[in-house]
Amino acid sequence: MIKLKQFESILQQVKDFEEPKIKYEQYCTNSHLASHILYNIATKFGFEEKSVIDLGCGTGMLTIGCSILGANQILSVEIDPNALEIAKENISDLIFEDSSNSEEEEDGDEEEEDGAEEEEQEEEEEEEEEEQEQEQEQEQKEEQNSENEEQKVIKEIIALDDITLVECDVFKLTQKEIIEIYGEDIRFDCAILNPPFGTKIKGVDVKFVTKALEFIKPGGSVFSFHKTTTRKFLIKHFTNMGYNVDVLFQVKFDLPKSYKFHRKKNVEIMVDILHITKK
Ligand SMILES: C[S@@+](CC[C@H](N)C(=O)[O-])C[C@H]1O[C@@H](n2cnc3c(N)ncnc32)[C@H](O)[C@@H]1O
Repeated sequence: MIKLKQFESILQQVKDFEEPKIKYEQYCTNSHLASHILYNIATKFGFEEKSVIDLGCGTGMLTIGCSILGANQILSVEIDPNALEIAKENISDLIFEDSSNSEEEEDGDEEEEDGAEEEEQEEEEEEEEEEQEQEQEQEQKEEQNSENEEQKVIKEIIALDDITLVECDVFKLTQKEIIEIYGEDIRFDCAILNPPFGTKIKGVDVKFVTKALEFIKPGGSVFSFHKTTTRKFLIKHFTNMGYNVDVLFQVKFDLPKSYKFHRKKNVEIMVDILHITKK
């Protein structure tokens, strides 16, 4: 396994959210904490050759960590396309060291060369009319498509070797979409998640874990980050639902200034790393 120091120095390069969206409780797990948490999980349970689902992957911190520690199939789900775009760059830069990722495809509407003949002008006018008609048709199609798009659960799939990034609301994701993505009905060895803590939408933390449990193999694990103040409630809730819940360890999160809804500039909160297993 990679040395912890080297692992941490790679995760330090993960780019953060550009404009964190408060409604999604966006912040990037600090690289020091992420490396220590993942390394600890890897030592105890191992990511080697494991399939992992990362719910609310943000800019890819946990996805990249699991991949470096040996996970060989990772599905990373995120609702925010901007975050996903940064995740894509981070993965390309840090895992595949592929500098070509930033190449943008551009429409090649090059102007035709000037041949100042009259006939050519007429032809051009006809072409323009045709183009206008086509544009109108295209607009109508796009309107219809955008209506269909809104109903689509998966907005985008970005396949990067054994990591698949998916733009999707976690709560709309079902096994049907997993089949759509992989072409087969698979379940994951484990889930890793640093979900919203429920500061903006009450109960969202519990809903994230409940979702993660849907996609896990029997005997699989969910590793999830939660405010320590919710520990008792979560243990009771998931134990009553028939799961085992262990507190693996506790860490101190120093939430950054970008997490604006806090009055203070930085906020320290105690966070539990929970290990939830199917019985
Ligand atoms: C606390 S951040 C953690 C980001 C990343 N996993 C990390 O550890 O650095 C929570 C992430 O969940 C995403 N998120 C919130 N609600 C979501 C939803 N309904 N579906 C998918 N992603 C969601 C946010 O956009 C954000 O990226």
